[in-house]
Formats: sequence, C-alpha cells, structure tokens
Amino acid sequence: MLIRREQPGDVDAVRAIVAAAFARPAETPVEVGLLDELRPDNGWLPALVLVAVEPSAEEVIGHVVCTRGSVDGSPALGLGPLAVRPDRQRRGVGTALMHAVLGAADALGEPLVALLGEPAYYGRFGFRASLEYDILPPERNWQEYFQVRPLSAYRPLGGTFAYAEPFNRL
Ligand SMILES: CC(C)(COP(=O)(O)OP(=O)(O)OC[C@H]1O[C@@H](n2cnc3c(N)ncnc32)[C@H](O)[C@@H]1OP(=O)(O)O)[C@@H](O)C(=O)NCCC(=O)NCCS
Repeated sequence: MLIRREQPGDVDAVRAIVAAAFARPAETPVEVGLLDELRPDNGWLPALVLVAVEPSAEEVIGHVVCTRGSVDGSPALGLGPLAVRPDRQRRGVGTALMHAVLGAADALGEPLVALLGEPAYYGRFGFRASLEYDILPPERNWQEYFQVRPLSAYRPLGGTFAYAEPFNRL
C-alpha cells in the first residue's frame, strides 16, 4: 500500500469507505456528514488528509484526517475520522495511516494531536489520556476516551480542547 495526500478524485471513494467502516444498522453514519461539512471549513488542512491506496488498482482503501483545533485558543490538531475499508482491516492499513499523519503533523511543527477513541488501539501510537497533559475534553463525559499525542513542538499548555466547528454539530 502507498500513503499519499487525498486528491479531488478520491472524495467519492473516501465517502464510501467511511460509510462502510462506520456502518450501523438503519442509520447513515454521522462520520460521513461530518467529513462533508469539514471539507469547506477553515479547519480543513489538506496536508493532513491522507489516503491509503493499493497501487495495483489505484484503489483507495483507507483514509485519515487531522483538522485544526485548539487548546484554550492555542492551535492544536484533532484527529478523525480514521477509516479502513472493512475488507482490508487488520492488515496494518490503519497503523500506516496513523504513523504517516502523525509524522506529517510533527514535520509541520504542530504541537499535539487529540482524539476520541479506544485507548487500547491509540496507545500504541503514543496517545495518553488527555488529563495527563492537563487538557480537558470538549465534553466532560469523554474523559476516559479522550487522548493526546504530544509532538516535537509540544510545550505544556493546559486547557480545554476544541475541535473544528463542524464537530459541534454532531
Ligand atoms: C480502527 C481501524 C481504523 C483500524 O484499522 P486497521 O487497518 O484494521 O488496523 P491495523 O491493521 O493497523 O491494526 C489492527 C489492530 O488494531 C487493533 N484494533 C482495531 N480496532 C480496535 C479497537 N477498536 N480497539 C482496540 N484495538 C483495535 C486490533 O487489535 C488489531 O490487532 P490484531 O489484528 O493483532 O488483533 C479500522 O478497524 C476501522 O476503520 N474501524 C471502523 C471505524 C473506526 O472505528 N475508526 C476509528 C474510530 S475514529
């Protein structure tokens, strides 16, 4: 697999992957609408929107996005959604996307990445409970699942994390 920036021609395939990865019975996953609303938002950072591609078929099989967030007004990144096509899960695609987007964010001089997710999965990428960094989640009851990964430019900054605006409409 190759990891590269998302291009305009990938958008429909990405939408289909996110819909399939987050599929719930009798519901369109909210993650599909969220991505559609994030694309035109100021918080959209094209350098941090990556796809995993199978080179043989030029087929998109995974997607990850980081958008502009903040900690009490200081710039930070929010990660998600992350999605791998169901028939390609558990083969390292999610891992490759995570390492690539964290490396890109680090190279851009971003201080930290925050996300809401399963600690058992994200711990392997250096995420720890946000409270260890004095960062509060946007919703108090997310505490157990809200995590932060400091990058090279990280300097301690406590406060409350805020995602790009479209996340507030979920
Ligand atoms: C979560 C997801 C992105 C992982 O991608 P992937 O390509 O399957 O992951 P990898 O192959 O790199 O890693 C697989 C490992 O992650 C672990 N893993 C996957 N999902 C996990 C979860 N929710 N909790 C804990 N561990 C998890 C598994 O233990 C697996 O290891 P194993 O095969 O040795 O048991 C993918 O399963 C997916 O798209 N899921 C649906 C959407 C979703 O939940 N996205 C994340 C929330 S934002």
